[in-house]
Amino acid sequence: MSSSAALRSRIAKRLLGSGYQVTPEVLEKLTELGEDVAEELVRWLASRGERMSLIDARTLELFLEGKSLQEVVEGARPVEGTAAGEEFELKVLKPTYEEIRMEGKVEEFTVYRINRFAALWRISSRRGIPLNSIREILESGGEGYAVCEVREVSRGDGYYRLRLEDPNGIWNAIAPARDRSLSEKVESLCTDMVVVIRVSARGSRLVVRDVMLPDVPQTDRPFRGPDLRVCVISDVHVGSARFNRRAFNDFLDWLSSEHANLNVKFLLINGDLVDGVFVYPGQREELEIKTLKEQFAEAGRLLAKVPKEVKVVYAPGNHEPVRRALPQPPVHAEHRRVLDPEGRFVFLGNPALIEIGGARLLLFHGQTLDDVIQSSMRFSYSDLRKSAGEVMEVLLKSRHLAPSMEVTPIIPWKEDHLLLEEVPHVLATGHIHVAAFRLYRGVRLVNSGTFQDQTKLQKGVGLEPTVGTVAVIDLRDLTVRFEQFA
Ligand SMILES: [Fe+2]
Ligand SMILES: [Fe+2]
Repeated sequence: MSSSAALRSRIAKRLLGSGYQVTPEVLEKLTELGEDVAEELVRWLASRGERMSLIDARTLELFLEGKSLQEVVEGARPVEGTAAGEEFELKVLKPTYEEIRMEGKVEEFTVYRINRFAALWRISSRRGIPLNSIREILESGGEGYAVCEVREVSRGDGYYRLRLEDPNGIWNAIAPARDRSLSEKVESLCTDMVVVIRVSARGSRLVVRDVMLPDVPQTDRPFRGPDLRVCVISDVHVGSARFNRRAFNDFLDWLSSEHANLNVKFLLINGDLVDGVFVYPGQREELEIKTLKEQFAEAGRLLAKVPKEVKVVYAPGNHEPVRRALPQPPVHAEHRRVLDPEGRFVFLGNPALIEIGGARLLLFHGQTLDDVIQSSMRFSYSDLRKSAGEVMEVLLKSRHLAPSMEVTPIIPWKEDHLLLEEVPHVLATGHIHVAAFRLYRGVRLVNSGTFQDQTKLQKGVGLEPTVGTVAVIDLRDLTVRFEQFA
């Protein structure tokens, strides 16, 4: 090996060992600059407390220019939220994804899956469990822990059949159904989920003894934030014949009258503000407003009632006229002008990570909650009034906003914006039209419900929406309560 090839290999290993991957272009440049610069780059990234998996040319360029990591990774931009003479800064900590594209090559998905597996393996390894590969466990004839992706789970007579995949191949395993705790875990599994399994080798057979998700660490630290409240709504569906205008108007009247008393400074709209057009076959017959322009104009007329002191933040969902695949960019400028002619709103992508008064809120419309419900044996739409909290919990425990990729399309981008590398204080979702709250390991999981009455499709699957619900988050201690308008 030439000395430059050896140097290149040492730098790549050093970066990988710290959890970073580099583009070939960056590796070449770092080889030219030398090991000390690579070392400094690792320290520089770590000192900013932000985790990123891929160092690209722009990151390196900004590091060399001595700019801050927030600018590099997230394109953070502060936005003012003013009220009664006070200023509250809203920091936007994720990009808006306009630049994200795919070429449509199969390799893009392969690379995405490999990176996703590697990132979740790295997160799983932080649980402190000694990890082996399934092959090593089989060869040793003993028992051990391994990280793998779930390909398929089916029920046999007294057992479950699992097809698992890791970088060495695809493995068949069984899990005994008589173990109730294990059964519950196996039935919660979704296709594509990356899990840690405790498995024992019985000759050439693999028997699953336990299943764990990468999971989040417990955080007991109490949060102390500013004296202000944030309202979260989603799934308003303006334009749908089932839009509950009365409940939404009641909410807007309440917001006008109570914002000062309650100190509401932000209104976060977490997707499906409008019903959109051509979202599903036959939608036209269920629309009261048949064009996007009119839907946005009507939403704008309604939201004009929001007091000027309340900053409106709007991220899209699957009904907005943006690309379906995640991550999604904000709605296009032509719709923004119609919705918000005065330029008061902050338009974000989906998912969006924001910070208000030190609290990190991850806004995610929640399209992949469908993937979780549909690919696991445990959940169903008719049961969401009881299980919505558990369904949301799956995203957090999986440390990925797309634990399963069965239904929702994903853009296989080099930087995985759906990975939950950092754990937020609040994960706010919508999409399932059922309001729910769950505190899991110190993280607040909130689903804000809907302003759309039950649709035919929902009736068909037995889904009972919670109509007219608004989540109100108190930033002093992050307590969450729901206001109901009907
Ligand atoms: Fe919706
Ligand atoms: Fe939705």
